[in-house]
Amino acid sequence: MRVLGIAGSPRRGGNTDLLLAEVMKGAASRGAEVKTIVLNDLKITPCQHCDACLEAGRCRLDDDMQMVYTELEQADRVVLASPIQFMGPSAQMKLMIDRCQALWARKYVLKRPPLNDRRERKGLFVSVGALRKADLFTPALTIVKTLFRVIDITYAGELLFPGIDERGAIARHPEALRQAFLAGQKLASG
Ligand SMILES: Cc1cc2nc3c(=O)[nH]c(=O)nc-3n(C[C@H](O)[C@H](O)[C@H](O)COP(=O)(O)O)c2cc1C
Repeated sequence: MRVLGIAGSPRRGGNTDLLLAEVMKGAASRGAEVKTIVLNDLKITPCQHCDACLEAGRCRLDDDMQMVYTELEQADRVVLASPIQFMGPSAQMKLMIDRCQALWARKYVLKRPPLNDRRERKGLFVSVGALRKADLFTPALTIVKTLFRVIDITYAGELLFPGIDERGAIARHPEALRQAFLAGQKLASG
């Protein structure tokens, strides 16, 4: 089983990075092959709405997103990790999600499986935010669930931690890290 982690924070070693690392460790402890992509290290152009994907079923922009498409296609489990920024996912994450319009076109226009085969894939969302607002995660959850639904990834749950702000603050919450490890184990088992 291949588990793909997608890190959406601009901050290396930040809170979602630490949580994602625990999820991946948990998955690896169950024998999964794990790989983490750091979106901030990639060059991904925003979707240009050129509609080339409606005919081709692939994006014509030749940048690092081509590698991300391949990784998504090869994955059995996908873990998206992003801090809340202005009430949504990070810009890095949203950029990647918007480029999945090509997979939307593959599915809804060309009637092909969005990730090329029909194996069951599952996805998890990991997020933190500084505030403690009741609806802090609602917009990001809607966006992430929409992506997973569009690309035929079954939503397997989320790990959401409010009130976490400075870099590495999540390390002072060992229970959160333990939950992340256990979620990784569960994701790679079921
Ligand atoms: C540009 C920017 C926007 C942010 N917007 C929000 C926000 O809307 N709500 C919130 O609770 N925290 C917000 N934060 C705080 C981050 O979510 C918080 O610091 C988080 O712990 C960062 O996680 P990371 O270390 O994984 O990047 C924002 C931070 C940045 C840099």
